[in-house]
Amino acid sequence: MKKSFSITLTLVFALIVFVGYAQSNTIKDYHEQYRPQIHFSPKGHWMNDPNGMVYFNETYHLFYQYYPDASVWGPMHWGHATSKDLVHWKELSIALYPDSLGYIFSGSAVVDSSNTSGFGKNGKIPLVAIFTHHDPKGDAAGKTDFETQSIAYSLDNGITWTKYAGNPVLKNPGTRDFRDPKVMWHASQKKWVMSLAVHDHISFYSSGDLKTWNKESDFGSKEGAHGGVWECPDMFSMKLGDKVYWILIVNINPGGPNGGSATQYFLGNFDGSKFTPLDTVTRWLDYGPDEYAGITWSNTGSRKVFLGWMSNWLYANQVPTEIWRSATTLPRELSLVQSTQGVVLASRPISELDEIKTKTTVLQDLTLQGERDFSSMISGTKSQYQLKITVAELKDYTVKLSNSDKEEILIGYDKENDRYYIDRTNSGNSNFHKNFAGRFTAPRLTGKNESDITIVVDKMSVEVFADGGLTTMTAIYFSSKEFSALTILAPKKISIRNVAVTGLGSIWK
Ligand code: FRU
Repeated sequence: MKKSFSITLTLVFALIVFVGYAQSNTIKDYHEQYRPQIHFSPKGHWMNDPNGMVYFNETYHLFYQYYPDASVWGPMHWGHATSKDLVHWKELSIALYPDSLGYIFSGSAVVDSSNTSGFGKNGKIPLVAIFTHHDPKGDAAGKTDFETQSIAYSLDNGITWTKYAGNPVLKNPGTRDFRDPKVMWHASQKKWVMSLAVHDHISFYSSGDLKTWNKESDFGSKEGAHGGVWECPDMFSMKLGDKVYWILIVNINPGGPNGGSATQYFLGNFDGSKFTPLDTVTRWLDYGPDEYAGITWSNTGSRKVFLGWMSNWLYANQVPTEIWRSATTLPRELSLVQSTQGVVLASRPISELDEIKTKTTVLQDLTLQGERDFSSMISGTKSQYQLKITVAELKDYTVKLSNSDKEEILIGYDKENDRYYIDRTNSGNSNFHKNFAGRFTAPRLTGKNESDITIVVDKMSVEVFADGGLTTMTAIYFSSKEFSALTILAPKKISIRNVAVTGLGSIWK
């Protein structure tokens, strides 16, 4: 009796020590050097594209290309994280594992509310994932049909998945690049529509049950940017006033406006079968070097929330974060806005970010010439904050974030070229790839005679939303220590309406 009591006591003690260790370990795990504090990143190992983003039962699901055995790209799985508010994320167990048909490449997920697939049981609505099976053996053997589309379903809120016995549901007609299905419900024609990236164009397919797919049309081999392969499409409609626009997002790698991977999009009409573009303008959702594979959440009604992978295939495998590699961008709310480029998509950080707001400091009506120090406004923010500046006229200005090691990031507006820029030439560790250091530019898309810029700063990233989000740029950086100094520079005297800094708390606490 006495002996078993002392054994129990020892076991209880061991359990307390273990739980304490596991907890402290979890917290420590998200506070390494370079670890993003307001962006999702997996606790460990490799991540790339966001996948299967779907809102269901008051939960946002984020699946992602994941390799659990190393911090470089490898046999792809779907990792899984969920959030109630798009801000705080909980990493769950792996959702989809590679199998005899191949690795699990990118794709989407839908809520099959009417049980068109028949996967629903006992009144349970199925979540259906539509993804690419990439057969590495076929690839290595020089075949052309090694990418096919398959489906899986979940009846327990996306926690466990059953792959459909009839996979693949869409065979490959003989095209090496045949992947990344994004499926939406076409309400007026009561059918599912799949946008699929096929090398240099998008093919549209439709289905009544998610299992049998019929080809509708092709779009894009002569439209838009073609400096690389087309990947990860997304299509949805949005309104500007009373007018409905169809938006077709097409990621491209390489061939982005600042080198490597990037997200372009088209505006037009989709009649249930065919996409007809409005014009021949090549529009970019993010001009910076580090937003890729971005698409929107499904099942969010008229609200469209976009999220990308915050890296670039040029150097994604080499960035100096060995425990994990890559993070997502902030979720961004999209809206249609008139610009000097016609109608465009504007991006803004989601308003839910306010939940982690600490304090806001504002300075108003300043004039400035030369360099002025605003460092006290960011002291205590631990490198996570939102900085908003409204300049009352169009003249050159630069926001400089720097540290005592003379590392810096410059973000600003260049009047002569009428362009915004991020310059990370001297931002810290960049020797892992020759294209990492550099200056990246983007056009200004408003006719207004003023400039406003919102910069969301995190441990290893800056996201710039200029002119209400008409021009967006994302860049990562790897400084040796945090940028504790903030200055604004202007060669000619400028009037600044306001400078506001809002501190943001870590999402990993
Ligand atoms: C885009 C991409 C997709 C593919 C996946 C593989 O970054 O190349 O086309 O499905 O990554 O991980």
